[in-house]
Amino acid sequence: MTIADIDKPIGPASDELYARATGRLPGGNSRTTVFVPPHPPYARRGAGYLVEDVDGNELIDLQNNYTALIHGHAYGPVVEAASAAIASGASFGLPTESEVRLAGILGERLGWATHWRFANSGTEAVMIALRAARAITGRDVIVRFAGCYHGSYDAVLAKGAAGVPAGLDADVVEVPLEDLDAVVRAMDEREVACVLFDAMPNRAGLRPADPDFVKALREETRRRGVLLVQDEVLTYRIALGGLHSTYGIQPDLVTLGKVIGGGLPIGAIGGTAETMAVFDPTRPDALPHGGTFSANPVSMEAGIAALRDFDAAATERLNALGDRLRAGLADLGFEVAGRGSLVRLHDPEPARLWWAAYRQGLLLCGNGLACLSTPMDDATVDEILRRFADVER
Ligand SMILES: Cc1ncc(COP(=O)(O)O)c(C=O)c1O
Repeated sequence: MTIADIDKPIGPASDELYARATGRLPGGNSRTTVFVPPHPPYARRGAGYLVEDVDGNELIDLQNNYTALIHGHAYGPVVEAASAAIASGASFGLPTESEVRLAGILGERLGWATHWRFANSGTEAVMIALRAARAITGRDVIVRFAGCYHGSYDAVLAKGAAGVPAGLDADVVEVPLEDLDAVVRAMDEREVACVLFDAMPNRAGLRPADPDFVKALREETRRRGVLLVQDEVLTYRIALGGLHSTYGIQPDLVTLGKVIGGGLPIGAIGGTAETMAVFDPTRPDALPHGGTFSANPVSMEAGIAALRDFDAAATERLNALGDRLRAGLADLGFEVAGRGSLVRLHDPEPARLWWAAYRQGLLLCGNGLACLSTPMDDATVDEILRRFADVER
């Protein structure tokens, strides 16, 4: 199968826009992560779980902007909260009560993570958390697991990625997924500041980590004074306390993003009062962290509104719908992974699957990742499965 063989349903408006875009935007857009060959269609609008492209094709959105839109598109309370915040001044060179309130909500939900810093993306949150781990421990080395995505900051990109200095590798140890011996070896041989960990990494297959491994990782890191940085940018939607809470562990730092901003740009780093004190600007050795738009009240208020309606009952309901969707997809013969409202279809030709789903009115992520949003119910899952039955394989 070559790109030329892909029977793409995109119409003249998307093709025309792409031709125009390539004159201004390399590859026709601004996010490598949304590119699907030969090029993705362009979105025009969204409402609830539906999205419409510029050619008028209407799709059930199983992508939800890469899992960020927990309530789907244009969710009333989020639109109202964000509009009111814009009308009161979109951003200030002063802190606002909005960030205090969102930190309060996250603190209550995660319990152990009482203190927070906000940023504009998950990438930034991970970058700042790694810097904090280095500052707290006074060590340089970061251990991370091969094949996992943590955003587009130098230290977390795959080894050899374009533009990343080779010298950086000296302070980053990449170990195979769930290889505890390799982690222990790295910690014994090097001055490790932290282990960066995602308990259900999408790029590595969206398979939940083995509970014994997670517990052992926590114990071994704690024993050596190595910080455990839990990346929950994608997985926070699984449980109010984050995916790690379902494993019964407490990391040292946690990174959040996506759903906690209600669909607006956001990232967050959380931890105990003691670890997060590294950011306290009244300390002479404080870690510098700024950001013109960090904690802007529009993202904060949108996040507060989104989380208000994504409570324990909503989380449970969506996770149960995810279980139904995974079971139905498996019955249809798809290889499927994930947990709760996060689903991953495995296919040797993801771009072909993506277009085949698109033709049936289903929007997936380029690698087969899918997720649910609260406007969906059992009837929506039935309709999704009916459409998947017609997806060409
Ligand atoms: C686990 C994980 N960490 C970090 C990021 C980066 O977040 P952002 O795209 O907001 O920069 C992502 C994005 O998909 C992610 O899935």
